[in-house]
Amino acid sequence: MSVEFQAWTTVSPARRVAGEVRVPGDKSISHRYAILAALAEGVTEIRGYAPGADCASTLACLAQLGVEVRRLEAPPDNRRQHSGPVIQIIGRGLRGLQAPERPLDAGNSGTALRMLAGVVSAHPFETTLTGDQSLRRRPMTRIVRPLRRMGAHVEAVDGRPPLVVRGGDLSPIDYTPETASAQVKTAILLAGLQTPGRTTVREVAATRDHTERALRTFGARVDADGLVIRLEGKQPLRGRAVLVPGDVSSATFWAVAAAALPGSEITLDEVGLNPSRTAIVGVLERMGARVALVPHDSRTPGEPVGRVRVAHGSLLPVEIGGEEVPGLIDELPALAALATFGGALRVTGAGELRTKESDRITALVSGLRALGADVDELPDGFEVRGSRPLAGGTANACDDHRLAMAFAIAALGARAPVVIQGADAADVSYPGFFATLESLCEF
Ligand code: S3P
Repeated sequence: MSVEFQAWTTVSPARRVAGEVRVPGDKSISHRYAILAALAEGVTEIRGYAPGADCASTLACLAQLGVEVRRLEAPPDNRRQHSGPVIQIIGRGLRGLQAPERPLDAGNSGTALRMLAGVVSAHPFETTLTGDQSLRRRPMTRIVRPLRRMGAHVEAVDGRPPLVVRGGDLSPIDYTPETASAQVKTAILLAGLQTPGRTTVREVAATRDHTERALRTFGARVDADGLVIRLEGKQPLRGRAVLVPGDVSSATFWAVAAAALPGSEITLDEVGLNPSRTAIVGVLERMGARVALVPHDSRTPGEPVGRVRVAHGSLLPVEIGGEEVPGLIDELPALAALATFGGALRVTGAGELRTKESDRITALVSGLRALGADVDELPDGFEVRGSRPLAGGTANACDDHRLAMAFAIAALGARAPVVIQGADAADVSYPGFFATLESLCEF
């Protein structure tokens, strides 16, 4: 099978890492702000929009749906390293999108495809949604089922993209998704937002709540009572200025590097501290890292932001499982890399990892094993024991941005350089990752 990402990058072992980083804007929040801006009335300006390929896919899809998207030059006082342009979006109002002339290409982004499927389900035209090879392998039944229940005609190919959606007037639902997934929750809420009546999602375990917060930021009322989220449809959204905080999942790679190497300390500024995303902090502490959090006074309505300092400590064995998993799902590859430096990590109840940009259990275990790690694959997780330093070698990122970055961090502790195949996958969420890595390392 051919691969999407083909660049090879070599990462050399490092003695320690140190410095201060502003990571790119949060990917999850960027997708949501762009989509809600398109459904709002009036103009939205988004600062700190995630610069990676995934969030560019969302903007391109919105443009195909008739949304005017402009990239304005960032103002000179915008200090965030990778902040890029201000994204200006002219809202079209609820159900105001236009039929696309070609299939929407969500690229590598499951979030973009699933959320946009919810959006177009409420529009009276046909939309085809597709993506790259990795995305065309990912399960869609989880959104097809509820959107059909609401009244949309949705066809998938054996439960996978391309999806063909013929939308229209929907009915609200009261729905319990089978998997704990913020993407599924969001697809339903975005369809429900454009549908008269009350839509209810009952989560099986808490997932990131950026959609609920973003809806409120754009002026809608959302009731969240524990795991039950209720949204009254047809509430108009108002365009506004928003700022996307740094992505805590991207920041995790630097946190883990600092935790891994003796004498290291990294400060992460302007990073999102939404409690539904910060379980990583507690896990790093359990693994032995020293972590200090300083929340900022809120400059980002609805999304807390702060400064995080992480320093090395002796690494300890840790287990992760059950309801803790959804809050850490994107951080597990980085934590696996950390466990190669010492201590141990056993993850169970994380079968969802097999449905990500790659089969993140098999691909993670194979990559770490190729570098000499003491690692086992489990049906629903993995176990890494930091019993010996990595030897070095070649690891295949398998078209998966988080694996490319996790292998790069693991490489810092190897006895010899590591070649990462498909390292350019990192651009999906973190363009500039390897340059920043180089700038933080002392060899
Ligand atoms: C995301 C939710 C998570 C996460 C993904 C982004 C989101 O997926 O893995 O990277 O923005 O809603 P699931 O909700 O499907 O687990």
